[in-house]
Amino acid sequence: RSVSLRPGRATSVWSYQSRVLKGDPVSVQALPDSYLGPILRLRRGQKVRIDFINRLDQPSTVHWHGLHVPDTMDGHPRFAIGRGERYRYEFEVRNRAGTYWYHPHPHGHTGEQVYFGLAGLLLVSDEEEQALPLPRGQYDLPIVIQDRSFDDGNQLRYLSGTGPTARGNASGAPSAPGNTMGGGGMMGGMMSRGAMMSGGMGDMMTRMMGFLGDTVLVNGRPESLIEVATHPYRLRILNGSNSRIYKLAWQDGRPLTVIGTDGGLLERPVHKDYVMLAPAERVELWADFSKDDLGTQLTMISLAFEGAMGRMMDMMGGGSMGDAMGGSSLAAGARFPIFTVKVARKVNGSLQLPDRLSAISWPRLQDAVNRAKPRTFRITMAQMQWGFNGRSFQMTAVAPTEVVKLGTTEVWEFANDGGMMTMAHPIHVHDQQFQVLERRHGAGSSGVRDGYVDQGWKDTVLVMPGDRVKLLMRFADYSGLYLYHCHMLEHEDLGLMRNYRIE
Ligand code: C2O
Ligand code: CU
Repeated sequence: RSVSLRPGRATSVWSYQSRVLKGDPVSVQALPDSYLGPILRLRRGQKVRIDFINRLDQPSTVHWHGLHVPDTMDGHPRFAIGRGERYRYEFEVRNRAGTYWYHPHPHGHTGEQVYFGLAGLLLVSDEEEQALPLPRGQYDLPIVIQDRSFDDGNQLRYLSGTGPTARGNASGAPSAPGNTMGGGGMMGGMMSRGAMMSGGMGDMMTRMMGFLGDTVLVNGRPESLIEVATHPYRLRILNGSNSRIYKLAWQDGRPLTVIGTDGGLLERPVHKDYVMLAPAERVELWADFSKDDLGTQLTMISLAFEGAMGRMMDMMGGGSMGDAMGGSSLAAGARFPIFTVKVARKVNGSLQLPDRLSAISWPRLQDAVNRAKPRTFRITMAQMQWGFNGRSFQMTAVAPTEVVKLGTTEVWEFANDGGMMTMAHPIHVHDQQFQVLERRHGAGSSGVRDGYVDQGWKDTVLVMPGDRVKLLMRFADYSGLYLYHCHMLEHEDLGLMRNYRIE
């Protein structure tokens, strides 16, 4: 469909459209002026049935990012359906209250489908959360941050030949990204900036490095002014970008009060000067404007930082990379504004930030069956293919090192020290919320390490170049085939994704 995002021509997008059956008690909030899918509000314990009907000319699935569901309900690419087909998702919401989201997950097309509009928020509530004095209703603000690039005709620009306006994009012929990059290799291809921008070379760079747009959208809209009242707000921020990492801060230097992460509320609030938010990560802030004067404007910015591109950036000539990647002038780690709140109304009544938010029962490290020797996944790059321990995605393949036992607790370690070809990767594990046990910092994370919020439940963790993280997770309830992957969607599409099997 088309959405009017900029003056002039409307933008063609792909979008989730919902129809709620009569008498269905589900809460679905459509966002009519945005390409984003409706906000689904669910309760813990609620049973959900969603019929997904695919009207695209390419295969798709729906993944309920962060939710703990049976493997057939998880949106794995092996369950992708074609145009006109239908897939019934049915599950019980077992997650804690929190900010989750949904998006497509077909192999090789996830980046494209999310980019052109397929994504939406899924907010879960539970009794513990309901009992807390948190900002609700109009004071509970979802904020989805995404970067995009537009062409002169207001159409979204991504890899050539993709999206709703692409011709000949229909049916079949998924572009098998891994194979389009053969001859010459990246090094041989390092040529003039002009050459990289045109067609194949630029596409190849984008696939390798991740897409970076030059325009930041909030909630699927380009205007970024949000009017608020003199009251505390709960800001639920999702980084829904394909590959951009944000270093979030208030422009006036006031600290960020973090109350939640991917898997819901923290045990207690945490104060940060800035927060790193990688693709797919969520952070919930308590933002209190009750002491701000009417008319005050406060901008959330992404601070400049280095290291996301590892050493590749220097190798490839630094700044010009931005142009190669989708014609973007906003390089990785650039500083730019994201949205501005304007205090526009006085209201009475306020809320006190609780100092205890949630009682979390963590898995215990001493219960981990591989505590002495964590399962280690190295992020590797060989023959222009990203991989975990040298392996790239294959639809149903599982290596012996990717099999875990149902009912056990394990430590998983992700190591991002693949030499020259190292860049930041946000690692996402399906079906799990995990605890970040430990981070070993490499040189690449010196300017960002105070911005990790590792206190809460997580399903996506940013691993900067040179870093290693250890995660503690418990494989409960469901056996089956699930994914773990990099959530830079171009990396995922390029094969930085693997199955693991719970048995
Ligand atoms: Cu949000 Cu496997 O993805
Ligand atoms: Cu990656």
